[in-house]
Amino acid sequence: MYEQLSHSLLNEILNELNPDIKKQQLRHFYTRLGANFYAIYTLFHQLYGHREDFKPQALRLVETLARQYMHRPEALKLIDIAREKDYNWFLSQEWVGMALYSDGFADNLKGLKSKLSYFQELGVNLLHIMPLLRCPIGASDGGYAVSDFREVDPRIGSLSDLQSLAKSIREREMLLVMDVVMNHTSNEHAWAEKARAGERRYQDYYYVFDNREMPDRFEETLPEIFPETAPGNFTWDAVMGKWVMTVFNNYQWDLNYSNPAVFIEMLDIILFWANQGTDIVRLDAVAFLWKKVGTLCQNEREAHLLLQLMKDCCQVTAPGVLFIAEAIVAPVEVIKYFGEDAVIAKECEIAYNATTMALLWDAVATKNAKLLNQGIQSLPSKLDRATWLNYLRCHDDIGLGFDDMDIQRAGYDPKQHRRFIVDYFTGAYADSPARGMKFGQNNKTGDARISGSLASLVGLEMALERKDPDEIDKAIQLILLLHSIILSFGGIPLLYYGDEIGTTNNYRYFEEEGKADDNRWIHRPKIDWKKAALRTQHGSLEYRIFDRLKKMIAVRKSIPAFADYNNRELIPLENPHLFAFLRTDLQQPSHSVMVVGNFDASTQELDLCALGTRGHFQYKGMKDLYSGTSFANFKDPLVFDPYQFYWFSDQ
Ligand code: GLC
Repeated sequence: MYEQLSHSLLNEILNELNPDIKKQQLRHFYTRLGANFYAIYTLFHQLYGHREDFKPQALRLVETLARQYMHRPEALKLIDIAREKDYNWFLSQEWVGMALYSDGFADNLKGLKSKLSYFQELGVNLLHIMPLLRCPIGASDGGYAVSDFREVDPRIGSLSDLQSLAKSIREREMLLVMDVVMNHTSNEHAWAEKARAGERRYQDYYYVFDNREMPDRFEETLPEIFPETAPGNFTWDAVMGKWVMTVFNNYQWDLNYSNPAVFIEMLDIILFWANQGTDIVRLDAVAFLWKKVGTLCQNEREAHLLLQLMKDCCQVTAPGVLFIAEAIVAPVEVIKYFGEDAVIAKECEIAYNATTMALLWDAVATKNAKLLNQGIQSLPSKLDRATWLNYLRCHDDIGLGFDDMDIQRAGYDPKQHRRFIVDYFTGAYADSPARGMKFGQNNKTGDARISGSLASLVGLEMALERKDPDEIDKAIQLILLLHSIILSFGGIPLLYYGDEIGTTNNYRYFEEEGKADDNRWIHRPKIDWKKAALRTQHGSLEYRIFDRLKKMIAVRKSIPAFADYNNRELIPLENPHLFAFLRTDLQQPSHSVMVVGNFDASTQELDLCALGTRGHFQYKGMKDLYSGTSFANFKDPLVFDPYQFYWFSDQ
């Protein structure tokens, strides 16, 4: 049924298209529209088919796609075609990313452009520049409360600065990732202002209610995201005289996607930024896109339909552009943001691997890989044409998003274990060198998350303060071990700016406007370029981290087994402190690589003979690809220094 309806609707739409679109030669556009329209129609109809304005909205949708296609620069259209041919291009081991705030890294976009060689020096070729759109001073949630989706924040530059940065990034064969905050706007956005002024059309862009009846019903099941600073999920707007849904901060108004006009606005915005040279769009807070009374308002089926629709639309106008799902939800739910019952991603091609991130921190605190192994075994395998973003730190807090069942299987009591992890990283546990802070503590549920920079969480800050060379060595080695995992695990490793030179917590964040009550600013640094300059000075702390990461990145790029084709197998070991997995090279199985890391602060041993054969591993002539060391004799157990890792090949 859908097939015929979609066919006749498409014909109607094509007839009614605005004359200025009709007269264009849009060959690829019409071919792609034809190929995708059935899916687009079906999804749009499932979401909005019950509405009287369904047809005019469908026409607007197609016009939006066509107009943005007309504005898409030729250079980007060529990239689209190349990527359509080489459709698994982003699964390659050659991509290594870094996330950063442009003002934290280099004051502004011009400064960032002048520093692009820094990334090339390190080997980073994918840059996630965190929110760069206009937002209020102060109440901006680090840029995630956008007040104008089409304007670059004047504090960091202009649209032409961004275009010129994007061009330079492209010329260096790097990729640009930028955020589109889909779920909400700032309360200072023009749509919110118009809603506040009483315009019905814009009140329908949000969830606005006259009294507490619906808010109360929603709040029966909606969890709190920022319980300390923004309890509840609705905010009273005195000017409008109504309640508005604000799931995150009280100045972040949730957009109402049951209104197709909102979807089309956001589609237009995503395509606008795709046309400025963005290769990958990070879709913020995607789990929250659909709200339904009586639910958590997360991971709803319609949220997935919206993302599928967004993807199919993007396939028509800018098919080379990928989406990242920022969905910090349970492992079984995250995986669905690639698309369910599919082989290739049909929603987002890339998703944050928050589970592995949290599990790695668990291994740091416990000094063993018990829960890490358990949690990864429970992580469903990803689709073929989809990949993870593997990371250690980012601008957000660390949530302990692993499963209670897995905690139990690893031999711990979930409640106590979670408390231990939070205590370990926030100074409440006497034996810990970590210097983090509790974030998002919820006294009603007992939950807490963790803020802190990588260097401070692994003990480098404390070791430097105590001038303890052994502890400094260990902390550096732990930083390298953690990176050795995300660089070899399968997926795109996403480093976090400042970690490559051992940047510790910034305790002065609270002096700046609007930051005092959000301790995530403790790990959103302003790069100290004098410190960064030390990266080339042999023996300096910065050199010891930067130079080794640089080497690790170069070696990663040379190992095809590290590309992400569901080619990873965990290796159970008797020694719980060691974490091991095999990465099979599907083209040349004899080029497979075995990764083994020691999460303990003391020396550990591994009896290779006891491992038995693994794939093509013969344990003959083994070589650590990272250090270049060869091992001839396997009769003796292999010794691991504290936090040491190997990338073994038996070539
Ligand atoms: C995402 C961002 C986070 C922000 C939230 C609300 O999770 O990463 O920093 O607070 O969305 O926009």
